[in-house]
Amino acid sequence: MYRTHTCGELRITDIDKEVSLAGWVQAVRKFGSITFLDLRDRYGITQLLFGEDLNKVLDNDPPGREFVLQVTGRVSERSNKNAQISTGDIEIAVSSFKILNRSAVPPFSIQDDTDGGDDLRMKYRFLDLRRNTLKKNLELRYAVNRSARNYLHEHHFMDIETPFLIRSTPEGARDFVVPSRMNPGQFYALPQSPQTFKQLLMVSGYDRYYQVVKCFRDEDLRADRQPEFTQIDCEMAFVEQEDILVMFEGLIRQIFKEVKGITYSGEVERMTWEDAMWTYGNDKPDIRFGMKLCNLRFPSHTFTGKPSITSLIEGANFPVFDTAETVIAIAVPGCSEYTRKQTDELTEWVKRPQIGMKGLVFIKCNADGTYKSSAEKFYSEERLKSIAESAGAIAGDLVLILAGAEEKTRKAMSELRLEMGRRLALRKEDEFRLLWVLDFPLFEYAEDDNRWVARHHPFTSPKPSDIDTMIGNDPVITNPAEYLKHPYANIKANAYDMVLNGNEIGGGSIRIYQRELQEKMFEALGMDKAEQQHKFGFLLGAFEYGAPPHGGIAFGFDRLCAILGGSESIRDFIAFPKNNSGRDVMIDAPSTIDEKQFTELQIRLNLK
Ligand code: AMO
Repeated sequence: MYRTHTCGELRITDIDKEVSLAGWVQAVRKFGSITFLDLRDRYGITQLLFGEDLNKVLDNDPPGREFVLQVTGRVSERSNKNAQISTGDIEIAVSSFKILNRSAVPPFSIQDDTDGGDDLRMKYRFLDLRRNTLKKNLELRYAVNRSARNYLHEHHFMDIETPFLIRSTPEGARDFVVPSRMNPGQFYALPQSPQTFKQLLMVSGYDRYYQVVKCFRDEDLRADRQPEFTQIDCEMAFVEQEDILVMFEGLIRQIFKEVKGITYSGEVERMTWEDAMWTYGNDKPDIRFGMKLCNLRFPSHTFTGKPSITSLIEGANFPVFDTAETVIAIAVPGCSEYTRKQTDELTEWVKRPQIGMKGLVFIKCNADGTYKSSAEKFYSEERLKSIAESAGAIAGDLVLILAGAEEKTRKAMSELRLEMGRRLALRKEDEFRLLWVLDFPLFEYAEDDNRWVARHHPFTSPKPSDIDTMIGNDPVITNPAEYLKHPYANIKANAYDMVLNGNEIGGGSIRIYQRELQEKMFEALGMDKAEQQHKFGFLLGAFEYGAPPHGGIAFGFDRLCAILGGSESIRDFIAFPKNNSGRDVMIDAPSTIDEKQFTELQIRLNLK
């Protein structure tokens, strides 16, 4: 037997017990004729004391950092207690020990504040995973996994595996493809999600399905995106949108409770997509703080039914505003005393290529009731006051205004708002605010091809009230300049995203389950009958054999874990992640393959 206890287990109540431990050498401290050694395993650290006799043995062959040791000895009370660790009251007076394996000098120190850079730690991920920080992240991940599975099991969901070697499922990214040796010249696609399979399972009658499942998407990587990531993927039959929202609020509440000890008692807020874009410039708004957008000007077709307050800025001959399609303001609390240097820095910030604005206009709402602005040559103090007030500013605030093309300006203002929220510490790490974003448009316009693309995916149902509009109209866009006037531009989807602190943690929809409507959808996306049959004949066919009404959702498991763990990067919550170029630098993948494999696959490279 290698060990009787773990390195995190022994307490003062275990004094005088004879025990054996096994683990890794964290640190060695020699004091004259005795040596203290910290032994570490997954559960903690225990101090070992090597007395005079054993010290001589140690001197002959001293164990270095990360050596694997097995020791036997007696638990004794420490004279110098360490309140920082759970085993800090005791130590093991070692009577015998054995080096089970040696270690080369590790390339970085295995401790919380490591000296290893990112690349080095990725290369030696198996060593990095020994560190507490990553261990805690993986423990949290496992806790979320367990909690989700328990909840879904309690609610009669069945975990059913679906295949990885499939044909393309359109989720908006490129596919990873796998050549088939037995079918030369043909390729499988790895699933971007199990979307069509879970729908087929509904047709098969498994009315509550879930899977914690890998998905593969060849897309540009960011802190919250990996080429292979995990979803908590769910589907239900005989449900409407409301059933799904309630069921999965329950799931997230349970995870909060069990993993974070947080009772999320408030309602989960709901917001339409249009309101999210109008108020926050973003379809995944961080609602932990206000600083809402004040839309001074916007193109009339983008937000129908929203009031126009253009009069506040018009008629001043201020070219920056007069020539802009969109003008948006926010009131930043308590920043009226920003210096010239600070406003210049903010102006540079919005001019960065990632934001891409030409400049920034500001109004300082001074504490004494006066107004100062970079546009004061054009606007009287009275007008500056009206603009500031419409943005919700009070004395002491700084109003920031951006002007330009609609999409770019709205996006830039959303980023500026988030940045100011960050700078003013309004995005508190320990505050969690959930939000459902609803009523997304069903279609997006693809300018390059002059056609519609599915905003979510092609299996999403339109709102019941919009089905007739969809069936009854020709999807072809005859006048690209006025595509927003096409009836399809206003069709809303029965789709929903769950947003947590400004991150999209999940998304789903009620599905189309009638062949005719699904065909119309494919047609709207530019697929003729032959292509529909070729790519999705299996699904269209299945809809002819009693497909029940159904809908579902998938949560980004890695993202959920990262947010609950207070991190921006999902990599820290994945045992073996890829870097930003999609490489696993530890195993050095992707890599070339043997000539023999090419021959078997009947593939010849034609690299440009
Ligand atoms: P969707 O594409 O919205 O929906 O994905 C669901 C959730 O998965 C997460 N996610 C990612 N996480 C890490 N890296 C990525 N590259 C990545 N891409 C997406 C997000 C997202 O909310 N089949 C549908 C679900 C459905 O309709 O039921 C789907 O996959 O958190």
